[in-house]
Formats: sequence, structure tokens, C-alpha cells
Amino acid sequence: MVEATAAKKDNKQEEAGEEEKTQLNRREFLNLAWLASLGVLVANVGGAVVIFGYPRFKEGEFGGIFTFGSIADLPEKATSPENFPKVKLWLVNTDEGVQALYKVCPHLGCLYGWNDQEFKFICPCHGSQYEYDGDYISGPAPRSLDKFVLRIEDPDTGQVLAESDDQGSPVPLPDNPNAVIRIDTGKRIQGKNHE
Ligand code: FES
Repeated sequence: MVEATAAKKDNKQEEAGEEEKTQLNRREFLNLAWLASLGVLVANVGGAVVIFGYPRFKEGEFGGIFTFGSIADLPEKATSPENFPKVKLWLVNTDEGVQALYKVCPHLGCLYGWNDQEFKFICPCHGSQYEYDGDYISGPAPRSLDKFVLRIEDPDTGQVLAESDDQGSPVPLPDNPNAVIRIDTGKRIQGKNHE
């Protein structure tokens, strides 16, 4: 009788031990699963940071920063604009300063062109016309030409010496002929409505 009672006690202790082991295993499994999900989350967040933190447009491409060169490289004031088809802009050097005009007509999106004889921009699609500095002259377009944000920087320090205002007015040229002209083709300033 005494022996039977002792055997029962041993069995109970063994069962309790097994149960404890199972609980430990379950806990370990849950911990591992939690760590694995954390790892996946960190990898996803890291991936998103890499994707969104990386500039979408490369320098020199449309949508990115285009470095024209220095002030000394500009065409004479009020001469034919310079055409940069790859980055979709015309660069004009007006008496008041330099401007980068977006090449797309604000009427229905055709590419307008420069007419040297008439000294103005004319759109081949519906005939809208614009001044050298992009101001609306005539035609169905609702506004003047859009401009890109333009900055003139010190060649040594990168300090901004002059930049576009929110109207896209001509940017006055600083004295330093080596100052660098950079145009942000990802930032467009809408032309003024004439209506
Ligand atoms: S798209 Fe230029 S005038 Fe219509």
C-alpha cells in the first residue's frame, strides 16, 4: 500500500515535469516567432527607408538637378534662348537675370518652339505665343509659361548667391563669373494666369 502511494507520487512528479517542459518549449517557440516578426518588420522599414530616401531622379536628368555651368557660359543677354531638350527647358538670359522655362505649353501640353525672326515662342498646336521671358502674349493658353526653380551658387562653398522667387522672376546674376547655375527640374513654378 505504501509502495503504491509512493509510485503514484513519482508519476505525478514526472507528469508535472513533462508539463513544465512543454510550457517552456511553447514559450521558446513564441519568443522565436516574435523575434522573427520583429526581424521582418525591421527589414521592411529598412527597405522603405532605402527606397524613399534614395533620390528618384539622377542629377542631369529631367526631374533632377541640372547643372548648366557658370555665369561665364551664358549666352549674351537677350539673344536666342538655349534649348536643353533632355531636361525639357529653355534657358533665357534677360536684362533682369536668368530663367529656365519649362518646354511644355500650358494650354494642352504641346512642345512650343522659338521663332528667331519674331523673337518669341510660338506653340505649333493652337498658336499660343509667349515673350522671351515666358510672359503670355496671345492664344488659347490660360497663363504664361511655367518656370523651373533656378539657383546660382558660389563655386567654392556651394552657398546660394541668388535664387528664383515664388513667381519665377528672372534671377539676377551675381558678380562672380564662376558662380554655378543649377536648375531643379523637379520644382516647377506655375506661370501667371492672364484671365
Ligand atoms: S497646346 Fe500650345 S496652344 Fe494649345
